[in-house]
Amino acid sequence: MQVLSALQWRYAVRRFSEERLPASDVETLIEATRLSASAYGLQPYRLFQVDSRAVRERLLPHAMGQYKVLHCSHLLVFAIETRTGDETVDRYMSLLEGARPVTADDKAGMARHMKGVLAGMTTVERASWAREQAFIALGTLLTAAASLQIDSCPMTGFEAEGFDQVLGLAEQGLTATALCALGYRHPEDDHAILEKVRLPANDFAQVI
Ligand SMILES: Cc1cc2nc3c(=O)[nH]c(=O)nc-3n(C[C@H](O)[C@H](O)[C@H](O)COP(=O)(O)O)c2cc1C
Repeated sequence: MQVLSALQWRYAVRRFSEERLPASDVETLIEATRLSASAYGLQPYRLFQVDSRAVRERLLPHAMGQYKVLHCSHLLVFAIETRTGDETVDRYMSLLEGARPVTADDKAGMARHMKGVLAGMTTVERASWAREQAFIALGTLLTAAASLQIDSCPMTGFEAEGFDQVLGLAEQGLTATALCALGYRHPEDDHAILEKVRLPANDFAQVI
């Protein structure tokens, strides 16, 4: 499917059918999300695939009445690191070392720079920065899903504290920041027929 047709086709599904996605498609989408761009490549977020019906039932009370948390084929939870900092940079540096030839001097310089940038942020700013990175990955996921004609619904309408508690995220230094329901649209989902509401193209982008 061409990119614009795929993006016209996709919409935020409110009601999913019972049909399950093949596991291989879910793996592809998770891999697409893993390959997403992030600032410095630091990826200060993780992805959780919640398959357990029992766990989803425990998440529902924290999902602001969004039953798709329960009924979608696959539920993905994006969680950001609550302590993005030196350890995040050190982890990146060891991955870098394994992947590319890089001199010790270059590595030290990069690490110093990244650590300095993160240290210059308040805790709130660091969380906001990590959230920005996670949302880029969410966008990558939505586009990848559309390109495979897989339906999705991004969600921030949930209580992070409840999700953190049910999924045991705080203990892992993480907090839930966004959800993505995946599956196939229900034939009676009334949002499927709605026109897109977007800024007109000439208001949206300007050539300077
Ligand atoms: C970050 C983000 C959070 C969203 N949260 C929710 C949500 O909690 N529940 C929901 O039904 N839709 C949610 N949406 C879907 C938007 O309402 C939808 O994308 C928007 O109205 C544009 O419509 P379309 O995606 O169907 O074209 C969210 C979308 C984004 C990008």
